[in-house]
Amino acid sequence: MDRLVIEGGQRLAGSATISGSKNAALPLMAAALLADGIVSLQNIPALRDISTFSRVISVTGTTVEHSQDAGTLTIDPSNLNRPEAPYELVKRMRASFYMLGALLGRMGQARVSLPGGCAWGPRPVDLHLKGLEALGAEIKLDEGYVVAKAPGGRLAGGTFELNPSSVGATINFLLAASSARGSSRLDNAAIEPDVGVFCRMLKQMGARLSGIGTRTIEIEGTDQLRATSFSNCPDRIELGTFMIAAAIAGDPGSPIRFENADPSHLGEYFVDALRQTNTGLELGENFVEVIAPENLLPVSIETGIFPGFPTDLQAQWTVLLACTDGNAKVNETIYHDRFKHIPELRRMGINAIVIGNEVVVEGGQPIQGAQVMSTDLRASVSLVLAGLVAKGETTVLRVYHLDRGYENLEGKLSGLGATIRREKYDEWADPA
Ligand code: EPU
Repeated sequence: MDRLVIEGGQRLAGSATISGSKNAALPLMAAALLADGIVSLQNIPALRDISTFSRVISVTGTTVEHSQDAGTLTIDPSNLNRPEAPYELVKRMRASFYMLGALLGRMGQARVSLPGGCAWGPRPVDLHLKGLEALGAEIKLDEGYVVAKAPGGRLAGGTFELNPSSVGATINFLLAASSARGSSRLDNAAIEPDVGVFCRMLKQMGARLSGIGTRTIEIEGTDQLRATSFSNCPDRIELGTFMIAAAIAGDPGSPIRFENADPSHLGEYFVDALRQTNTGLELGENFVEVIAPENLLPVSIETGIFPGFPTDLQAQWTVLLACTDGNAKVNETIYHDRFKHIPELRRMGINAIVIGNEVVVEGGQPIQGAQVMSTDLRASVSLVLAGLVAKGETTVLRVYHLDRGYENLEGKLSGLGATIRREKYDEWADPA
């Protein structure tokens, strides 16, 4: 297994380039299954989730080629003949569940494993299933699999309202509704930027969607979706993570620049909250500059759906709060127990406690390097951020969680001046 070793206390400076969005790339890949020819996707990051989903897709008979250096992914669904997504792959990544909508849309049938557990839970898929049923799908559960069928081989179309709004259920609904016989409507659709980008690709393929970027999306089904070439957007969560890194570990007064960035995708709440900490921000159309202040101010946040504070940035924000001189809270309203990072951060001296769905952080305590364990993607990156500002050496174990969603994290941080290296280790070796 791999671990990251970080020597804390180096001041960051310079610039870094943000990679393509993981959470947009995955639905773009699913949309490619609906095309009548070869789809080419650009700005696709080299991440474990992308290679996992490529394998899920190739089980169906679709050809997938990822040219990692060029960041392009070529998907040819011409020979798609097996409408199935097996447990062995789906259990590695929940977004594999997008296969349900894509296969129903393409073939009028699908057999897709239920995703199962998650590092924090519960993360149900009831809205995915109810949405597809509203479109006319007949769904039953069989030995851990969802078996779905469109009567007559093609979904009829229908209306559905999401409650709560869900990114994944919006994507599954749109994948299936785009090639339905009739018209459909989705109310309280997710408006996260990754969903908007996915809708724009569907539209470019010939899907008849209106209301993109709003809470109500209307869809006229069509029987032909074209092959296309589409460029993915930058990763908003990677950008937010690096902005927090710059705020806590940047050289005060000197700007750190992030290229290939789209700050409009972060939502106003995050940007306002970061400004309130006294961090200087310049937001361009495709870049962001961050200036670390001499003293960060504590700012409480509450996660919410877009344009609210992203749940995928709250673990990182907890580390920022630990670098202030006051007390503040992180209130998690989307996933009430997404706090696996807190016991690990406490091992580093951060005084954060979980009360219900809130974390209360007492800033200003000395942060010390320690051996800590990754538990999920965003929790792991919060440990790396804490390692950047800790006194001494921090070792972050089980880096495979990070590799799911951060492309070349250690390379980018080294480029900014951090002392960080990747090593192999044996998880079960006895201490020397
Ligand atoms: N929900 C239901 N029923 C459902 C689906 C969702 O009750 O059938 C609830 C969830 O329990 C949650 C809320 O709806 O309380 C929102 O969840 P959503 O479905 O929007 O989340 P998701 O689609 O499973 C995506 C991202 C997550 C991100 C969330 C929230 C991808 C692949 N995943 O998940 O990203 O946290 O939206 O923004 O896009 C990550 O990248 O680390 C990550 C976990």
